[in-house]
Amino acid sequence: MTQTFETLVFPYLNHAVRMFESGYATAVDIDNAMRFGCGYPKGPLTVLDEVGPAVVRDALAARFAETGDHLHQPADLLDRIADEGGSFTAGGVGSAEAPRLQHEIARLGVVGTGTMASGIAQVFAQCGYDVVVVGRGEDKLARVTAYVTKNLDRAIERGKSDEATKAEVLGRLSVTTSRADLADVDLVVEAIAEDIAVKRDLFRDLDEILKPGAILATTTSSLPVTELAKATSRSADVIGMHFFNPAPVMKLVEVVTTELTAPAVDETVRALTAKVGKVAVSCGDRAGFIVNALLFPYLNDAVRLAASGADLTAIDADIKEAAGFPMGPFELLDVVGNDVSLAIQEELFREFGEPGFAPAATLVAKVAAGELGRKTKKGFHDYS
Ligand code: 3HC
Repeated sequence: MTQTFETLVFPYLNHAVRMFESGYATAVDIDNAMRFGCGYPKGPLTVLDEVGPAVVRDALAARFAETGDHLHQPADLLDRIADEGGSFTAGGVGSAEAPRLQHEIARLGVVGTGTMASGIAQVFAQCGYDVVVVGRGEDKLARVTAYVTKNLDRAIERGKSDEATKAEVLGRLSVTTSRADLADVDLVVEAIAEDIAVKRDLFRDLDEILKPGAILATTTSSLPVTELAKATSRSADVIGMHFFNPAPVMKLVEVVTTELTAPAVDETVRALTAKVGKVAVSCGDRAGFIVNALLFPYLNDAVRLAASGADLTAIDADIKEAAGFPMGPFELLDVVGNDVSLAIQEELFREFGEPGFAPAATLVAKVAAGELGRKTKKGFHDYS
């Protein structure tokens, strides 16, 4: 264990305990979310059990005495388990029955042409579904096809696929600028701009266009799914399917149900998630769901550490080595985009009112300077 690991990872473990003790998600789902959404070798509650609840509690308590920051104050449950010598993960949750498709799902729609939309379309087409992708212009739609083609070519280069498979997958993918072409899909995933007004308009439109019984899913990472449900006359059919970046690789889908979502819609979406080779975790409609609520405060803490003059490359290397995370915090921030990270952090701050969640000044400054990460060739690291 290194100092960087303790400084950045222990508060994240504490935060996972708070989420678990609040009843927002099960221990298994919290651990699965971080394993399959971020590629971590183990989930936070398993790490806690391995490092030792008392070790983590004592280190956090010492830090809390110094900082007075509530994020460092050991969670009540951590304190109790540390004292009682218990475990967070022992016993699991029993064997829940595998979900089954409660709707016929053959033809899928994706709205959007960005990285997430392209990745999601690829996932569905690769798993044998016909997919209609709706975009605002032919040029944008061409980027979706190019994204999928590039990934399929890379798989061929690596000897993991062949030209015939590529042709089949691309053959199942059709692109259109007309939303009306979604009239016969069984489920549509929306992956357009993170703007509630824009998404609300789309959901109103989809409500008019889609056949009765079709499922309307959103891949929003930060906006309330309930608001989108209320924009339609079929709120029971609206659900969140939050994929992770890059969607063809990351195995997690957070399935977000609102108070209005029909249980059969939830079950179908979890079954579909499994059918396309992903792992579903269940969560309620609250900012950050599981992964972002645990991940972004940790990234924000790393940015604060950077502001004190720490060496970013060294922190990245240390975290990869000590925690086994696939990317260091600054490498990941640059992939996600500092603008996206700032928006998520602001949303978390608003939702939880936790002073320690206030976006780090350096993150705000990076966005103001247009240093957004890989997409602008400069973020925390330089890619020029
Ligand atoms: N698209 C499609 N496939 C890709 C890809 C991409 N952009 N990048 C990599 N891959 C594939 C490769 O083809 C390879 O596939 P193969 O094993 O079948 O040959 C596999 O992924 C591994 O790729 P590499 O060996 O080239 O690269 P790495 O070993 O460095 O892995 C990574 C890349 C999978 C992206 C890994 O670094 C990782 O897991 N990073 C963590 C990413 C993460 O945390 N994502 C979550 C961000 S938060 C989020 O999305 C929420 C949102 O709301 C902001």
